[in-house]
Amino acid sequence: MDLRVFEDGDLLAAAAADAVEATLTATPTAVLGLPTGRSPLAAYAALRRRHAAGHCDFSRASTFNLDEFVGLRGPTPGSFRRAMDDALFTGVNLDPSRIHFLDGTAADLDAECRRYDDALRAAGPLDLLLLGIGANGHIGFNEPGEALRARTHRVLLADRTRADNAAAFGGDPARVPAEALSMGMGAILQARRIVLLALGAAKAEAVARAVEGAITTRLPASFLQLHPAVTFYLDPEAAAGLRERTVR
Ligand code: GLP
Repeated sequence: MDLRVFEDGDLLAAAAADAVEATLTATPTAVLGLPTGRSPLAAYAALRRRHAAGHCDFSRASTFNLDEFVGLRGPTPGSFRRAMDDALFTGVNLDPSRIHFLDGTAADLDAECRRYDDALRAAGPLDLLLLGIGANGHIGFNEPGEALRARTHRVLLADRTRADNAAAFGGDPARVPAEALSMGMGAILQARRIVLLALGAAKAEAVARAVEGAITTRLPASFLQLHPAVTFYLDPEAAAGLRERTVR
């Protein structure tokens, strides 16, 4: 696995935006996989600025977000779709028909997961997948457990994950939906290139275990060790648990 440690979040965000811009330049019809959460926000802001300055043409690109809460869909506050609209989509020239999102309000959630997998299969594999990482090592909403799922699926969220996502729900973990839909490990590991963004001391243990630990379903990000083209973009705090550092 390739590691890059940046002095601060702005440099990290610029490098993440560079990765997206380079992908769009090389492949204007690129299929991008995108996360929510705090980690990618500065990168998304950088992409909006670059687009406003005449760079980063998303007009022929497609996006697939990793996950959505059960019971929510855009533009409902708290939904990941709303978060993406606010962070990125309203500021770039993506064709709305090529923005792919799970609908957490679908009447038949299993059918919704199958619909997403069919769309991923038709468009994919993902050319570039940006990832965050949960403090418990989840990627997307593939939570630690006895088993992981390859396909898009419904998931019961860990207590820690609900607490970590409480900010968008008035700070109250109990108001965070208990379930979510998530892209599975299959589509994640089939992405051509993966860039994982991790900032802050709260991610240090998960990062260290993901990079240096055993590959285990108890730490879903550890499966990224099996992927041929993964780079972790870290700030010094998130990198603090690593035995070996590669600063470039
Ligand atoms: C949520 C999302 C993940 C994200 C994680 C980290 O749980 N489902 O996709 O990576 O949060 O979020 P943050 O970047 O805010 O720490």
